[in-house]
Amino acid sequence: MANKIKTIGVLTSGGDAPGMNAAIRAVVRRAISKDIKVIGIRRGYAGLLAEDFIEMQGKDVSDTIGKGGTILQTARCLEFKDPDISKHGAEILKKHGIDGMVVIGGDGSFRGAHRLASLGINTIGIPATIDLDIACTDYTIGFDTALNTAMEAIDKVRDTSTSHVRCSIIEVMGRHAGHLAMWCAIANGAEDLLIPEKYDYNEVKIINHIKETRAKGKKHHIIINAEGIGESQSMARRIEAETGMETRATILGHMQRGGSPSCKDRVYASIMGAKAVDLLAEGKTNRVVAHKNGDFIDFDINEALEMKKSVDEYMFDVCKSFAN
Ligand code: ADP
Ligand code: F6P
Repeated sequence: MANKIKTIGVLTSGGDAPGMNAAIRAVVRRAISKDIKVIGIRRGYAGLLAEDFIEMQGKDVSDTIGKGGTILQTARCLEFKDPDISKHGAEILKKHGIDGMVVIGGDGSFRGAHRLASLGINTIGIPATIDLDIACTDYTIGFDTALNTAMEAIDKVRDTSTSHVRCSIIEVMGRHAGHLAMWCAIANGAEDLLIPEKYDYNEVKIINHIKETRAKGKKHHIIINAEGIGESQSMARRIEAETGMETRATILGHMQRGGSPSCKDRVYASIMGAKAVDLLAEGKTNRVVAHKNGDFIDFDINEALEMKKSVDEYMFDVCKSFAN
């Protein structure tokens, strides 16, 4: 079947995520295998508006599948939300002969992708965020790597916490989503978990819980605190004052977004990148690639953006039940 497009533009947008390079590489290599030209767009929608374009060959993505960050770099470009500016963006793409776009990013980036699709550029989104907070998909590029990075860091904090018989509050990323925090709490055997979806801001409960675990002879008390709750340093001071247990706060920060992607992130990102190209070659537009119930599928972007996702209730309940 003949390709429905001739030239694909690819960009990464929003917060970077390990595995974005594997997705870029897959787009480039899959497209070239179908005789479709690929233009890399640097720095997300900001680079699109600045016409920061580079034609990509297979060799340009050699030795990138294992690299963290994004070789195309990324940006948050608030002006792209302005309808006149995104319209200008679509005109720029048309001027360069780009008739298909692959946007690798999160929900915000998909809103930009939807805008381009509505302006006549066939556009496909690929979900990439360490937050796992894209409702249409069970998997997002970067979550697996970030989770393992955080888990290893928390193991290390736990060692010193046990040696000193301390309480440790460990803040993991996730301003609006607690998936990363909840998975860490299970993987690291935390005593408490504070996430935006569930926290009731009742510190007395935490303080009483620490007193209970101390009375049982526990040698540490690990609290995983999502970035969305924050306040880890001041919380540590209050907990220490109330419980008498030495308390330290550790904010893991952006180290969670870096590093070489895990095997899962490399492989899933590769499949998603290839699928985005296949969809464009078939003439599809305004779709987002997803991994749902074990299959790689795609959704209409508007429908995907309307879906809602919270933390898994059963996982949350199990996590809480272990903390005694
Ligand atoms: P993420 O894609 O990770 O959710 P953001 O929410 O920061 O990250 O969005 C990334 C970028 O997507 C924004 O900086 C902006 O360039 C673009 N964007 C976000 N919302 C819209 C919108 N409503 N219309 C057009 N572009 C948007
Ligand atoms: O969306 C990914 C993420 O790392 C969130 O977990 C975090 O809240 C946010 O980005 C941090 O953004 P910034 O890079 O602007 O500090």
